Amino acid sequence: MCGIIGYIGRKEKTLPVLIEGLKALEYRGYDSAGIAYQKNNKINIIKAVGRISNLEEKITPQDSTLGIGHTRWATHGKPSIKNSHPHQAGDITLVHNGIIENYVELKQTLSEKGYQFHTETDTEVAAVFIDYCYQSAKNMISALKKAQKRLKGSYAFGIINHKEPNVIYAMKKESPLVLGKTENELFLASDPLAISSHTKEICYLKEGSIAKLENNKVTLFEEKEITPTWTTLNIEDSKADKNGYEHYMLKEIYEQPKVIENTIKPYLTENGTQNIPDLHKYHKIQIVACGSAYHTGLVGKYIIEKFANIPVEVEIASEYRYKKVFYDKKTLVIVVSQSGETADTLASLRKANQDGIDTLAIVNVITSTIAREAKYILPVKAGTEIAVATTKAYLAQLSMFSLIAFELALKNNLLSEKETEDILYSYQTLPKQIKNLLKNINVKEISEKVYKHNDIFFLGRGIDYSICTEASLKLKEISYIHSEAYAAGELKHGTISLIEENTPVFSLITDKDIYEKTISNIKEVKARGANSIAIITKELDEESDYYDEKIIVPNTHTLLQPILNIIPFQLLSYEIAKLRGCDIDKPKNLAKSVTVE
Ligand code: G6P
Repeated sequence: MCGIIGYIGRKEKTLPVLIEGLKALEYRGYDSAGIAYQKNNKINIIKAVGRISNLEEKITPQDSTLGIGHTRWATHGKPSIKNSHPHQAGDITLVHNGIIENYVELKQTLSEKGYQFHTETDTEVAAVFIDYCYQSAKNMISALKKAQKRLKGSYAFGIINHKEPNVIYAMKKESPLVLGKTENELFLASDPLAISSHTKEICYLKEGSIAKLENNKVTLFEEKEITPTWTTLNIEDSKADKNGYEHYMLKEIYEQPKVIENTIKPYLTENGTQNIPDLHKYHKIQIVACGSAYHTGLVGKYIIEKFANIPVEVEIASEYRYKKVFYDKKTLVIVVSQSGETADTLASLRKANQDGIDTLAIVNVITSTIAREAKYILPVKAGTEIAVATTKAYLAQLSMFSLIAFELALKNNLLSEKETEDILYSYQTLPKQIKNLLKNINVKEISEKVYKHNDIFFLGRGIDYSICTEASLKLKEISYIHSEAYAAGELKHGTISLIEENTPVFSLITDKDIYEKTISNIKEVKARGANSIAIITKELDEESDYYDEKIIVPNTHTLLQPILNIIPFQLLSYEIAKLRGCDIDKPKNLAKSVTVE
């Protein structure tokens, strides 16, 4: 993953811009960080393992003409000073986001030519190779063009050549990279948000571009030299702030009533839906995404099939991009992505685009590559999400799927007037219901009872199972407890052997049509000693012996019920992780935006 930044401009601003930019990019990885800056014709490098704050502690104020910086999510080589960027070779110092796939072969060739390597990274090989190209070409643009032909994989580079002390070069393939400018400054970054407090004048680099930044001027090379196209970034600066909450995750959970209100409002009228592209011409939908976004797709499938009667397939993007896919002009491919930059999701979108299939993106970051490349876009209004484990963006994506299902059901004349009214009323009351649920729910006691366990299970049927997949992911990503979500009826085919005395089993029971079946499955685990915790809708609540503890969720229309159902699980994961003393907002090994495959 990783995030990169570069700056040429005011001497006193260089280091602060790099650090501030890296902080904004920290969601892309936080294994280590580093900067390189020019001072008195010398390149200085500072690196630190761990967070940007560790790097910041090592830096003293310095005047500097230009610099580049990097925050790392380790792919090749463990997090260490040695493996941290910037990497240097000969005249070249560079930062890199991406993966050089043929680094082994290149390393071999370069070693035979006498080059030496000091790290385990693919990036060092790129640095050495670019230096090798430069030493023969003696011209950076020719050297980079030559390097482009040999380097395989994905990359966004920020490059300094020691012999050209006032220039930064940038080069991009597959990994995101933007340039920015003001009257006296030039920037490069993995994400425009990293520089948006300084400039809104942005140039999105195209695939295969090389840029030369110097003297307040950007020279751009695609096939040949071209004039850069600058666009104005239409976003407000949002300062990250916990607003009194202990963690961003908790703050973001409590923002959900507003997020849902903001997301659904533009699409609803008194009688139905508006502003949604005409989708009922499609006979099949494929939903493609990763992580939690993939889990929203599982819910999307269920409600689109149920309410709109259209078959839906849900695919993990890293699988979809390489498999044989069955689609035609009557298929709509929906990609779902909070960041809009996830490499596998983007590649899946490009695959469908290239095959001439209509694509629709459900995204939170509207400046992202996915938002720019999809045929249709339905933005969710979650706002900036800082916590690595998604909550409010996931909820907003669920609400977007409910709108798609509603719109399609209306267009296909599948809803009675009464049901349409019920759904519209449910949308209206939903933000308030979320607010009340958040106000009244108490998950502390249950969390205290289960937080020391090493295995936790989540059971549900149908749409409840889809929510359980996210509940389980949320728990494991932030609390590091092993957990599994199981379709309740499937557990007995193997996994039930893992149930021991007191094993916590959370069950979600909200579907009236099949709740008795789920209860039978819960009894099976209870008979084997499980500690059964039921999350149940008010309507289905009854005194019974199938649970040891219960949490009640208010009822809404079935189309929207999943939006309420996930909330207790978000809070449970949060409390359990807190009791275990975990780093909730930045869990180990994870990154918020995964720009490598
Ligand atoms: C990472 C994040 C997850 C997210 C997934 C997909 O793994 O940690 O929270 O669901 O990527 O990200 P996207 O930005 O495409 O929704």
